[in-house]
Amino acid sequence: MVYDNIVLIGFMGSGKTSVGKTLARYLHKDFVDVDSVIESKLNASINDIFKDRGEEYFRVLEQKCIIEITQKKGQIIATGGGLPIHSTIPENSLIVYIDADFDVILNRLSQKEHAKRPLLQDEKRARSLYAERIATYKELATLSVDANQKIQIFIHVIVDFILDQRVL
Ligand code: S3P
Repeated sequence: MVYDNIVLIGFMGSGKTSVGKTLARYLHKDFVDVDSVIESKLNASINDIFKDRGEEYFRVLEQKCIIEITQKKGQIIATGGGLPIHSTIPENSLIVYIDADFDVILNRLSQKEHAKRPLLQDEKRARSLYAERIATYKELATLSVDANQKIQIFIHVIVDFILDQRVL
């Protein structure tokens, strides 16, 4: 086994959670979503955590959580879009970048999914956040997948890579 875990990174709404769940099903692995872990730990939504405690507090939690989660091996882990920017992803993770264009993300997200994301509410700010972050996502990733198409079209790229390279 070359890597301990598979860690999915990418901008908000790029589909990391859906990809992670599908991959976990194909590969018979456990799926963990960092945002969901944080929400259950605090028994609060991401929106409320940002509103009541602030972004900095959330970033500290993210770093703690990814360290805690990666103590276990063999999992598919979806991160929040800001995690790789503000935290260090433990070594020995296979980092996969779910790469979708900003406009594709905006068009694809339902109103409900859009509303769950505090940093997506101001479109101009979100667009510049996107532009700031993509270089880091690309730099960190061992594998980048074009996620502008439907998940069924690109999921096999990730599955094949993992199986071919015997990474997990
Ligand atoms: C964030 C992304 C969100 C969530 C929080 C902050 C970000 O996760 O962690 O709202 O800074 O990009 P998703 O990438 O799942 O939307």
